[in-house]
Amino acid sequence: MRSIPVVSELMFCLIPSCVLAKHHNQKLRFDKYGRFKILQVADMHYANGKNTLCLNVLPSQNASCTDLNTTAFIQRMIHAEKPNLIVFTGDNIFGFDSLDSAKSLDAAFAPAIASNIPWVAVLGNHDQEGSLSREGVMKHIVGMKNTLSKLNPTEAHIIDGFGNYNLKVGGVKGTSFANKSVLNLYFLDSGDYSKVLPILGYDWIKPSQQFWFQRTSAKLQREYKKGPVPQKEPAPGLAYFHIPLPEYASFDSSNFTGVKLEGNGSAGISSASVNSGFFTTLVGAGDVKAVFTGHDHINDFCGKLTGINLCYAGGFGYHAYGKAGWSRRARVVVASLEKTVKGSWGNVKSIKTWKRLDDQRLTRIDAEVLWSKNSGA
Ligand SMILES: *[C@@H]1O[C@H](CO)[C@@H](O)[C@H](O)[C@H]1NC(C)=O
Ligand SMILES: *[C@@H]1O[C@H](CO)[C@@H](O)[C@H](O)[C@H]1NC(C)=O
Ligand SMILES: *[C@@H]1O[C@H](CO)[C@@H](O)[C@H](O)[C@H]1NC(C)=O
Ligand SMILES: *[C@@H]1O[C@H](CO)[C@@H](O)[C@H](O)[C@H]1NC(C)=O
Ligand SMILES: *[C@@H]1O[C@H](CO)[C@@H](O)[C@H](O)[C@H]1NC(C)=O
Repeated sequence: MRSIPVVSELMFCLIPSCVLAKHHNQKLRFDKYGRFKILQVADMHYANGKNTLCLNVLPSQNASCTDLNTTAFIQRMIHAEKPNLIVFTGDNIFGFDSLDSAKSLDAAFAPAIASNIPWVAVLGNHDQEGSLSREGVMKHIVGMKNTLSKLNPTEAHIIDGFGNYNLKVGGVKGTSFANKSVLNLYFLDSGDYSKVLPILGYDWIKPSQQFWFQRTSAKLQREYKKGPVPQKEPAPGLAYFHIPLPEYASFDSSNFTGVKLEGNGSAGISSASVNSGFFTTLVGAGDVKAVFTGHDHINDFCGKLTGINLCYAGGFGYHAYGKAGWSRRARVVVASLEKTVKGSWGNVKSIKTWKRLDDQRLTRIDAEVLWSKNSGA
């Protein structure tokens, strides 16, 4: 239960490379072991730090539990996994209870910033409920240290929402894949609530966003298939956003890994009440192998539908509803490269995932292979 001592973070940041990293226009790439690891943090629901109490913890845990437990959990996860990127998939803050959205955001992302690991965030449906609008929250995030988050793609003249962007992950430095994006990450704003009456409920990914995704995916695939080292298959992609797609309701315990404890609504999946077709767009594009969302705190499964994994992370934050006695959790994804015939690192061979629980030993559960190159899926 020990958190990373603050003093060691300070010491770490006194070394020149730390200072350089902060000002360097960081490019993501696989490490020298041919690995790239992503930590997903869903639904922190951060408010006012030590004055904000936890929801749904055991009576014995109730008295000593605040937002600072969420902070400690991030620090422990970063320490245990040492990811190459941290992705926050929305409801980063719980606007209704926040006294000052900017302060809540600063506190929520502080452990990521202190770790000096690049991080990104997208918006959920609660981020804008405080003193900042959705645009205001995303602008604040984009201005924070060590983040690779973007407000919106400059090439898209019209796009719905705030925080739609993509990131390329380059191959290993010094190899012939060094300048190719061997893994593509897509981040989208899945909105908050429907503004189209009489449709009620949660928002959806709009045609403008899908069009941007489609064009971006096609462009990345064209680049990947060109020289140097032209490839036949597209580089795998991963998509991160907040609200699950309606297709998350396609599974039951016979064909997912994890649990679905949400009992309400259409099979316990709180997606929009209409289907805007983003899943079909993903299948059509052909590169995305897995989608990662949050929103339903006590669902944490991954299921595969027509070659695409639909995954939840499970709730992370203590000021978010949960289930007493059911640990808060986080999802880790690691992509691994294959060796080329020349013994150098090539393109992505497999994508694996697992979760960790916020218990004494950060128990690792539900490890599985989401995608592997040779299985053809
Ligand atoms: C937990 O503590 C809060 C604040 O003291 C209180 O409002 C709430 O009823 C407590 N819940 C339980 C289950 O003890
Ligand atoms: C929250 O943090 C406090 C202080 O470190 C700790 O005593 C308590 O067990 C934590 N609660 C939970 C639910 O992890
Ligand atoms: C990658 O780009 C850098 C900088 O432009 C260049 O120096 C290097 O030779 C390139 N490597 C490959 C394998 O193309
Ligand atoms: C999962 O299994 C259920 C039956 O238990 C079935 O109705 C459903 O179509 C399956 N889903 C997928 C994606 O195969
Ligand atoms: C189920 O959802 C409805 C409508 O959102 C809500 O009024 C009700 O309290 C929920 N029931 C449970 C058991 O969560």
